[in-house]
Amino acid sequence: MRIIFEEADVTKVKCDLLTVNEFEGVIKPGGATGAVDKALNGLISHLSSKGEISGKLYNNNLIHSQGKISADHILVAGLGKSSEFNLDKVRNVSAKAVNEAKKIRAKRVATIVHGAGIGGLDPFKACRAVIEGAILANYKFEDYKKEKDSDETFQIDELIIIEKNPSKIKDYKKAVEIAQISTNATNKARDLVNTPANKLTPNIFSQIAKKITENSGLKYELLEKKDIIEMGMDALYSVAKGSKEDPCVVVLKYFGAKKSKIDIGLIGKGITFDSGGLSLKTPKHMEDMKIDMAGAAAVLCVMEAASKLKIKKNILAVIPLTENMPDGASSKPGDVISSMHGKTVEIISTDAEGRMILADAITYAKDKGAQKIIDIATLTGACVTALGDVASGILGNDQKMIEEIIESGEMSGEKLWQLPMYDEYKEYLKSTIADTKNCSGLGKAGTSSGALFLKEFVGDTPWAHIDIAGTAHLDREIGPYSKGATGAGVFTILNYLMM
Ligand code: BES
Ligand code: ZN
Ligand code: ZN
Repeated sequence: MRIIFEEADVTKVKCDLLTVNEFEGVIKPGGATGAVDKALNGLISHLSSKGEISGKLYNNNLIHSQGKISADHILVAGLGKSSEFNLDKVRNVSAKAVNEAKKIRAKRVATIVHGAGIGGLDPFKACRAVIEGAILANYKFEDYKKEKDSDETFQIDELIIIEKNPSKIKDYKKAVEIAQISTNATNKARDLVNTPANKLTPNIFSQIAKKITENSGLKYELLEKKDIIEMGMDALYSVAKGSKEDPCVVVLKYFGAKKSKIDIGLIGKGITFDSGGLSLKTPKHMEDMKIDMAGAAAVLCVMEAASKLKIKKNILAVIPLTENMPDGASSKPGDVISSMHGKTVEIISTDAEGRMILADAITYAKDKGAQKIIDIATLTGACVTALGDVASGILGNDQKMIEEIIESGEMSGEKLWQLPMYDEYKEYLKSTIADTKNCSGLGKAGTSSGALFLKEFVGDTPWAHIDIAGTAHLDREIGPYSKGATGAGVFTILNYLMM
């Protein structure tokens, strides 16, 4: 989707669909909506007085312009109560306008920046939200469909941002750049997560990562199976043993700061399919497990976007990749394995595999000098139980970092909810024969104990862990996101890196 600006009167912009808006309870609209109303000889205010246009939140009215303005159709988007209006609503209103545009197969869509006028929101942030909502809603994934171009997967070509005030346009240009890069990165992560596991193996993922780095400021390195064994990444290898596909670790580096130290290490769980291993999942629980590399996808797409945005930080990405499969060679419950860190782990469940591969990736990032660490992973079903598909879990050892990451998520409509790291939970992981168990097996505080396992390997390095098990993939539409992968965490981490 191209995004362009037009410094013009709303009534003079040629397009298939023009989106204006109205708050609940307004009969005589002002601003851009007022200008359109006037050109239509008062049709909008007439329909408002009859209650046909209500301005209720997400109520949309489509009107034919009948040649009275340059747009073919006009959408009056309901903004709801002005006292309750915020950036999340701007994003959703913009997404819903794109969905309406798809229904009438509008290719050229024009919009005003909702909330930047009478809404009283910060114009830069409002503009970002409009673009984020539009690009998220314009997303489609039909790589494996023979019959393409259904209503659902129709895409708009061009979004025109209309603004009469030239000084605002300058502000908007920067907002569009950030929003476009970060939302495209999110959509790219959605593509990777939506891709079936037979089409996205560890090896294919690494090739995609390599390709991405070719025309960017990123450095690419691959640790192959032999390197993994040589370096003592036994925790990662213990997960990979049962798979016909070789594991690997994609390492990416981005240097945006003048100094040489690595400001932050980003680690993404890359289980391209999680069957549970010998602790086999039920068919129902296994169905969606191609998404178990959503953390890896997020980190890869964040890195690409970070280099496009020229973020002024040095970033190291460590992406451990493997399948988790049952086989004669698989790890067995009760096995004790070592790790790159040196700690020994008693495997209670082979389905608690994410933390195993993250443990070695964390050790590697620390060895390379990462000053801080963020890991992102579809780690625990317990997080889905606690927070559903609405919020990701966040835990860690650095409260400031956690709070900044939560705030970074809010900027782009991603919710994160902090869960506790009480010392008392440590008991759950005590093993009689090894340094730690990989999980309690008790089904208690699963998300917290998963994070406590990781903390054993993180040590004192400032660290935050984001559990996206519930948010990486949706079985319903939420806000600007359709069913399927969401690209959870990409916005959050990028916003944090830009802080
Ligand atoms: N990949 C799963 C977690 C998951 C569940 C992601 C649902 C997305 C949706 C993870 O590897 C797993 O199986 N975790 C176990 C851990 C348990 C054995 C301690 C779980 O949550 O049941
Ligand atoms: Zn698992
Ligand atoms: Zn998993």
